[in-house]
Amino acid sequence: KKTTDKDLRSPICCILGHVDTGKTKLLDKIRQTNVQEGEAGGITQQIGATYFPIEAIKEKTAHLETGEFLVPGLLIIDTPGHESFTNLRSRGSSLCNIAILVVDIMHGLEPQTLESLGLLKQRKTPFIVALNKVDRLYGWKSMTGVSFEDLLEKQAPSVKAEFEERLSKTMLAFAEQGLNAKVSFRNDDMRRCVSLVPTSAITGDGVPDMLSLLIKLTQSMMSDNLRYLSTLQCTVLEVKMIEGLGTTIDVILSNGVLREGDRIAVCGLNGPIVTNIRALLTPQPLREMRVKSNYVHHKQVKAALGVKICAQDLDKAVAGSPLFVIGPNDDEDEIRELVMAD
Ligand code: GTP
Ligand code: MG
Ligand code: NA
Repeated sequence: KKTTDKDLRSPICCILGHVDTGKTKLLDKIRQTNVQEGEAGGITQQIGATYFPIEAIKEKTAHLETGEFLVPGLLIIDTPGHESFTNLRSRGSSLCNIAILVVDIMHGLEPQTLESLGLLKQRKTPFIVALNKVDRLYGWKSMTGVSFEDLLEKQAPSVKAEFEERLSKTMLAFAEQGLNAKVSFRNDDMRRCVSLVPTSAITGDGVPDMLSLLIKLTQSMMSDNLRYLSTLQCTVLEVKMIEGLGTTIDVILSNGVLREGDRIAVCGLNGPIVTNIRALLTPQPLREMRVKSNYVHHKQVKAALGVKICAQDLDKAVAGSPLFVIGPNDDEDEIRELVMAD
């Protein structure tokens, strides 16, 4: 069967990096939200998920020369950078097809940058690096509607010099980790050399360049992995009590379809939980799943998406475990064993 555009599912992109490098703020800039300011202590403590429809990405990159966009959208998973959340970084990176590693251009590679790099290498995940906080360069002038390369050209000589110096240091630090890295507009081989894309989550400089590069990387390196498969692949992220809904689970649907009424099985603290999906909810596009909002109800959802599932008996569901659908021809006992396997 020939692959058509419709068979490509939305890739899952994970955003990783040291604490306070600007991961959430970058997503806020694209979403036009203020999730970061609502976080306790300005620290992310959960995995988040936001769906970016391709139309929104096209709009934001309209002034750049981009190729054709084939994927229907991007599901971006936000992760915490604080050292105590290694398990969540690991979970986030295990779910993604592609990643953005965020580095503070003023700080270079930091401990959780290296930890994240280790996760990406281990899983051979293609990634780009956002060299964030370029607005901190002394004398930086910001401008919208131009490519980062053109914007850099317009900076004062001292600003250009500081940029080049910090860029060289970062390239050297990546070389010490065994990775070739180049600033994106000087990198003509994304397969052999990691692209560093300078950004500012505050001014928005370079953010469209980052999005365009992300789509390019996805489509060039992984179209084979992005074929739409009907096999269900679904992971529980959080178990949450929501007023009016009861206990719900937030899941990442990586592949396949979920339908209202589906009989599902998940790992529970006291053994397998088997229940029926009462409601399937998602946040609006461009809204973070971990923030309470006006959810959209669906009869059916297709990967990749962050989905909130309402069903009975979910109180003891275990975050991080896989979710299975029990079809009419499946052996329920077999699946009960399967969910408890890890
Ligand atoms: P954790 O999720 O807790 O690891 O942090 P994070 O990487 O998501 O960083 P966050 O978005 O919380 O930003 C940390 C701080 O840096 C906040 O005070 C932001 O306002 C600030 N910040 C983020 N991006 C930029 C940027 O591009 N420029 C400047 N000047 N400040 C930034
Ligand atoms: Mg954050
Ligand atoms: Na933070």
